[in-house]
Amino acid sequence: MTGYGRRTIIDTDIRGRSGLLAQADLHGQEAIFPDNFVWGAATAAYQIEGAAAEDGRGPSIWDTFSRTPGKVAGGETGDVACDHYHRYADDVALMRDLGLRAYRFSIAWPRVQPDGQGAINARGLDFYDRLVDELLRADITPYVTLYHWDLPQPLEDLGGWPNRDTAYRFIDYTRAVHARLGDRVRTWTTLNEPWVAAFLGYASGLYAPGRTDPADAFRAAHHLLLAHGLATAELRAAGVEEIALTLNLAPIITPPDAAGEADVAAARLVDGLMNRQFLDPALRGHYPEDVLEIVDRHAGLGHIRDGDLRLISPRVDLLGINYYSPTVVSAHPGEPVNPAFPGTEGIRFEPATGPTTSMGWRIDPSGLGALLIRLSREYPQVGLLVTENGAAFDDVVEGDRVPDPDRLAYLDGHLRAAHAAIRAGADLRGYLVWSLLDNFEWSEGYRPRFGIVYIDYETQRRLPKDSALWYREVIRRNGVR
Ligand code: FCB
Repeated sequence: MTGYGRRTIIDTDIRGRSGLLAQADLHGQEAIFPDNFVWGAATAAYQIEGAAAEDGRGPSIWDTFSRTPGKVAGGETGDVACDHYHRYADDVALMRDLGLRAYRFSIAWPRVQPDGQGAINARGLDFYDRLVDELLRADITPYVTLYHWDLPQPLEDLGGWPNRDTAYRFIDYTRAVHARLGDRVRTWTTLNEPWVAAFLGYASGLYAPGRTDPADAFRAAHHLLLAHGLATAELRAAGVEEIALTLNLAPIITPPDAAGEADVAAARLVDGLMNRQFLDPALRGHYPEDVLEIVDRHAGLGHIRDGDLRLISPRVDLLGINYYSPTVVSAHPGEPVNPAFPGTEGIRFEPATGPTTSMGWRIDPSGLGALLIRLSREYPQVGLLVTENGAAFDDVVEGDRVPDPDRLAYLDGHLRAAHAAIRAGADLRGYLVWSLLDNFEWSEGYRPRFGIVYIDYETQRRLPKDSALWYREVIRRNGVR
């Protein structure tokens, strides 16, 4: 399951169309982005903040999970991480030096509301208040994500996301955060990657809270969507103009030598589970029929109440796209189910071939281009923002430099693919690299280094990698050449 169980998607149709993104378009030529294109970087609270028990922060499911033996590589936790909670001012200064125009970060619900309901912890909000002020002073636009997987443990104890009430708790939390930051933060994202939260959290158990019940995963997915819709309505009523939902999306493709009808059907099914299960309810107000059939088989449909789809689908302004890699599947009778994708008996998730990152994820920039074009055609009402794209490699410090040519090439290729997609009509508004800093990569711990800035975890020293210095030039030029 390495590399798999995580991101991916597809529409086989798009593969044909990705001819649009012919190699010639992607290499060697200047690719200048539209005026006002947003350039930035992203992080998430549990992955960088540390200070896990400070200033009244309560435990989250990731604190519990990472302390459970065998769940995270090397038994590592986010207790200290990048110590960003204490070093945020220096980190913002670093962002300014790198020329970032935007910074996407997430708010830790258990800092703001330790029990997940009831009392608000003002000291938790104080931290984000200071961070936002610091960003604005540095002329960097804050992009807030309300939920990047760190559910307060007391809510998990009450049933977690499979429990419908969790969605309603999310409204109160959203209201509290907006009341504090709404005067300065313009763009609000409700959720990061609900597929991961639901299916790695409750079906495969690879991520917190580590449960393994497919029915619960489908219920969690629905309640996450409901939380998104309810929070969107709340934010809209409070006057927010730019609201986003971030999904992990990718083309789901078949291998070149297995493109028969059964293979294409397999890709379509996985596309439903990973992509359309979230895109269609949020952006079209209905579940796709093929997905509903799978939900029904595993969980029944009792958790989807009358009127829910309307609550789930208020207008959003931006679709955040986290893209790393395409998923490749083929039909393979007898293949056991992939636990992260209930309903995929008889479907093989193909191991990566060709160049990969140190996560073992295949490198395919054209997948990003194809995805952007598909989304802009199928969901034309919503603007697109790449909220994550990046790669882990085994970086080595050389003196005061970190040469990372593989990451630089990865980012360069994906930017060219994004640019080609814009030329083909995609309404892409910005690009946020994952990640600003090396950080706690969930169940993989600190080994994978995704940052454009290297962290020496012994000293907490920050060292911009070559890719960061290159990215500064990209931003300055508004493109690649
Ligand atoms: C995404 C997550 C992000 C990070 C990257 C590598 O799924 O949103 O936190 O772990 O993958």
